[in-house]
This record gives sequence, structure tokens and C-alpha cells, in this order.
Amino acid sequence: MNRLTGKAAVVTGGARGIGEGIVRRFVAEGAQCVIADIDVVAGEKLVAELGDSVLFIRTEVTSESDIVSAINACITNFGSLDVMINNAGVVGVTGSIESTDLADWERTIAILQTGVFLGTKHAFPIMRKQRSGSIINISSTAGVQGGLGAHAYTTAKHGVIGLTKSVAVEAAPHRVRVNALCPGATLSSLTAGVVTGDPDNLEGAYERLSSKYVGGRAPKPEDMANAALFMASDESEFMNGAVLVVDAGKETLSDRAQKFYPIEA
Ligand SMILES: NC(=O)c1ccc[n+]([C@@H]2O[C@H](COP(=O)([O-])OP(=O)(O)OC[C@H]3O[C@@H](n4cnc5c(N)ncnc54)[C@H](O)[C@@H]3O)[C@@H](O)[C@H]2O)c1
Repeated sequence: MNRLTGKAAVVTGGARGIGEGIVRRFVAEGAQCVIADIDVVAGEKLVAELGDSVLFIRTEVTSESDIVSAINACITNFGSLDVMINNAGVVGVTGSIESTDLADWERTIAILQTGVFLGTKHAFPIMRKQRSGSIINISSTAGVQGGLGAHAYTTAKHGVIGLTKSVAVEAAPHRVRVNALCPGATLSSLTAGVVTGDPDNLEGAYERLSSKYVGGRAPKPEDMANAALFMASDESEFMNGAVLVVDAGKETLSDRAQKFYPIEA
């Protein structure tokens, strides 16, 4: 408890899924959060539940002025911007490369990659002045490996890691940290839509996702929030430009290992 006392955060895509999990955990640890999301209904519902420690600002992450407003609201209401979580995301355009429509490609990249750029661009100068801050960019295991997402999604998530490493170099002398968190398949409406075709079928999705994990349990948003909590807190002071994969080893536990020893669930 209280690992984030006195800190204020903006969480894009904070109304649902992994972002919501992060908001809940951060508030439980003493932080104040701006929920920066396009989903007004889900955002207001979370505010009604969590109270004065959170504020909802309707934010489209591809809009530079919306991002600036969310960050300004954090400073005006909570006094600082200590943590910026660039999390909002969609699956985006899917299908073969030759069938990928340019406008759909550009919209996917705009949300997943340009949104992270805008959040980083406007959080950094504030943190530089404070001489402290943690920017956490939500990438994906699809940001470190091909074949785990569609082409545009995979491209954007790799780009998020490139941006993270690049800005970390500029930010480090100012005591600002920029790190990437790469969740493996995690229960949310996004994954429910992918694995069951119905974003509301969380139960069915959890069963399907869990069957793919060693140990038989898929991660939930709170599991990603635990990693984000470490990255946001002063405990990760020496972590900068890092890429933290949180997927129960799915990325590194190759099926080929079974040639050498059995992998038991
Ligand atoms: N769930 C997973 O398995 C998984 C794995 C790896 C990475 N991720 C990433 O984690 C992030 C969160 O995904 P999730 O699974 O929680 O999805 P989700 O659909 O449950 O939540 C996404 C949130 O982002 C918001 N959002 C979408 N487009 C937006 C926009 N243009 N502007 C502002 N807000 C917007 C939505 O309203 C929603 O609240 C995404 O970046 C996603 O790519 C998820």
C-alpha cells in the first residue's frame, strides 16, 4: 500500500481493460489519476466508483489538443504529472498485407503509435521541469515478435518500443524514465473480441486464453497493473529504456524446449 502516495498519473484508455486495472491499482496505492479515454460511459462509471482520486477527461489519443487537455487537467487538479501511461489501443485493421486498406492502416497506426508519441511528447517537458517522472508505454508481445498480431498492430507495437528507447536516451539526463510494458494475451474486451468474436464474452475468453498458458491461468488486467505499479514507483528508479515482457514466459518458453524436457502445466 501507498507505493504511489503523492503521485499523479494520466492513463490513456483508462476506462476499461488493462488501463482500468492500472487506474484501480494506482488509486489503491495512493495515486490520483486522470482517466483519458473516448468511452465516456465507462469512464464516468469508474469515477462514480473510485471518487475524488480520479477524474475523467474525454480524450481521443490521436488528437494533440485532447492529450494536452488531459495532461493539463492532471496538473490543475492533482498538482503534478508524475506518471504517464500511454495505453489506449484497438486491434485495428486485420487481414493479409495485400488486402490492408491504407486508410484503415493509417487509423490503426494513429491510435497505437501516434497516440503514444503525443502522450510522450507532452508529458516529457513537464517531467523534465520537475526533474522526475515515469512514462510507461504499453506495447505488446506483438512488439517484439511477428505473428502475434495483425500487420498494422505488430508494426505499431514495434514502433512503440523504438520510440520508448529513443526518448529514454533524451530523457535520462533529466531524471525522466521511459519504459515499455509488453503484455502477453490478457483478459479484456479487446482479447474477448479476438478470441470469441464477442467483446463482452469475458468468461469464454478467459477459458480460451487460459488454455494457452503454462499453468492454465491467463493474466488479467490486475496482473499487468502490478508490473505498471513497479514501473511507476521509485522502486524502478534504475530502469530506463527497458522493455518488460509480462507473459508468463510464453515469449521465451518455446515448444521446442519439449525436445529436451517435458513442460508440465
Ligand atoms: N489485452 C491484451 O491481451 C493485450 C496484450 C498486449 C497489449 N495490449 C495493449 O494494451 C492496451 C489496452 O488494451 P486492452 O486489452 O485493455 O483493451 P480494451 O479494449 O479493454 O481497452 C482499451 C481502452 O482504450 C480506449 N480507447 C480505444 N481507442 C481510443 C482512442 N482512440 N482514444 C482514447 N481511448 C481509446 C477504449 O475506450 C478502452 O477503454 C492496448 O494498447 C493494447 O494494444 C493488450
